[in-house]
Amino acid sequence: MTTNPIIIAVDGLAATGKGTIARRLAAHLDFAYLDTGALYRAVGVAVLKAGGDPADAQAAQKAALALNPSSVQALMDDPALRMPAASEAASKVAAVQDVRDALLKFQKDFAVHPPAGKKGAVLDGRDIGTVISPQANVKIFVEAASEIRAHRRFLELQGRGENVTEAAVLADMTERDARDASRATAPTKPADDAVILDTSDLSADQAFEKAVGIVEKKIK
Ligand code: C5P
Repeated sequence: MTTNPIIIAVDGLAATGKGTIARRLAAHLDFAYLDTGALYRAVGVAVLKAGGDPADAQAAQKAALALNPSSVQALMDDPALRMPAASEAASKVAAVQDVRDALLKFQKDFAVHPPAGKKGAVLDGRDIGTVISPQANVKIFVEAASEIRAHRRFLELQGRGENVTEAAVLADMTERDARDASRATAPTKPADDAVILDTSDLSADQAFEKAVGIVEKKIK
C-alpha cells in the first residue's frame, strides 16, 4: 500500500520569512524542500546572462524550457540568484504564462513524488496553495509589514556586502510586490483555506514555532 505524501504549501511575499520557515519545517519533519522562487530566479538570471530582457516573453520562455530539472539543485545554491537584479528579473519572467507553464510540471511532480523517498514535501513560493498544490494538507500564507520586510532584506543584502540603501530596497520591493500581486497569471494571494501567519513582530524562532503549531493542528 502506498500512502500519499503530505504536502505543505508556504506562500507569501518577499522577506516575510517564508523561506526560512519552509526550510526549517522541512528539516524538522524530514520532508523534501523546494524553493520555487529559485526556479524563477534561475530563469531570470539565464535571460540576463544571454543579454536578453526578462520582460521579453519569448526569451523568458526559451530560458524556462532550457531549465533542466536534474540541475535545479545545483542552481539553487548559485549566489547570482540572490542578487537584487535576479529578484527583479524573476518577477518579470514570472508574469509570463508560458514560463509558469514550463515550470509547472516539475513543481507538481516534486510535491506528489518527493525525492529521496521522503514522506512529504514543503514547497515555498507564491502560488503553491492556489495553483501548484491546491490539494496541499497544510497551507500557510506568511505576511509582514512592508517596512519590516524591507528592513530585513536590507540587513541581509548589507551582510553580504551589497552597497544598498534601505529606501532603495523598499522601493524595489514595493514595485516587485505590485507586479507579483497584480499580474494576470497566478497573482500572489492566499488560498481560501490558508492560515495567515504574520511575522511582523516575531523573531525567526517564534515564527518557526507558530508554523509548527499550524502544521501539527492539521496533521496529527
Ligand atoms: O520567493 P522569491 O523572492 O525567491 O521569488 C522571486 C520571484 O519569483 C517573485 O518575486 C515572484 O515574481 C516569482 N515567483 C512566483 N511564483 C512562485 C515563486 C516565485 O511567481 N511560486
